[in-house]
Amino acid sequence: MIKRPLHLSHDFLAEVLDADSLAVDATMGNGNDTTFLANLAKEVYAFDVQEQALTKTRNRLAQFGFENVHLILDGHQNLDNYVMEPIRAAIFNLGYLPSADKTIITKPKSTLVALDKILTRLEVGGRVSIMVYYGHQGGDMEKDAVVDYVKKLPQDFYATMLYQPLNQINTPPFLVMIEKLKP
Ligand SMILES: C[S@@+](CC[C@H](N)C(=O)[O-])C[C@H]1O[C@@H](n2cnc3c(N)ncnc32)[C@H](O)[C@@H]1O
Repeated sequence: MIKRPLHLSHDFLAEVLDADSLAVDATMGNGNDTTFLANLAKEVYAFDVQEQALTKTRNRLAQFGFENVHLILDGHQNLDNYVMEPIRAAIFNLGYLPSADKTIITKPKSTLVALDKILTRLEVGGRVSIMVYYGHQGGDMEKDAVVDYVKKLPQDFYATMLYQPLNQINTPPFLVMIEKLKP
C-alpha cells in the first residue's frame, strides 16, 4: 500500500539513525514519535509544553523499557538550553494533541525558531521530518510559514522534499523533509 506521510516521515529518519546518534522530538504529544526515536537512537530529547504529554510519554517509554530519553517540559524554541551535542534527526508533528486541549497548538514563530536552531545543530547527512497538520484555526498560517521557510533554504546546503496527498478531501496532513548536505 502507498505510504502515508507519517510512515514516510519515520522511514526517512530511520535511514540515518543508529546507536551513536542523538535525536529530537520537537512535539512529544502522546509519545509515538518519541518511542520510535528511542528505539533507534542513542539519546533522545523530547519537548512539549503540556505536563500531560510528559506523563503519557513517560508511561509509554517505561512500558517498552526505554531509558535513553530526556523529557523536557518546555517549548522546542528553547532547545538550545538543553541540547548541546550535534543532532542526527529531528521530528515535528505540528498542530494540537487530539486527546488534549485543542487550543494548545504549535505556532509559526516558535516553530521556525526551533527549526532554525535544529538546522544549525544538525549533522551533515542529518534529517528533519515535519508533519504539517493545518485544518485547525491558525494552521494555515503555520503551514505557509513553514513551507516558505523551507523553500528559502539554500539548495547547496539543504535538500528538501514535500510529500502530500493530492485527492484527499478536507485538509490532510503532509510531510516536509529536510536533509543537511554541507556544514
Ligand atoms: C500534533 S501533537 C504531537 C503528537 C506527537 N508527535 C505524538 O506522537 O503523539 C503537537 C504537540 O505539540 C505541543 N506543542 C505546542 N507548542 C509547543 C512548543 N512550543 N514546543 C513543544 N511542543 C509544543 C502540543 O502540546 C502537542 O502535544
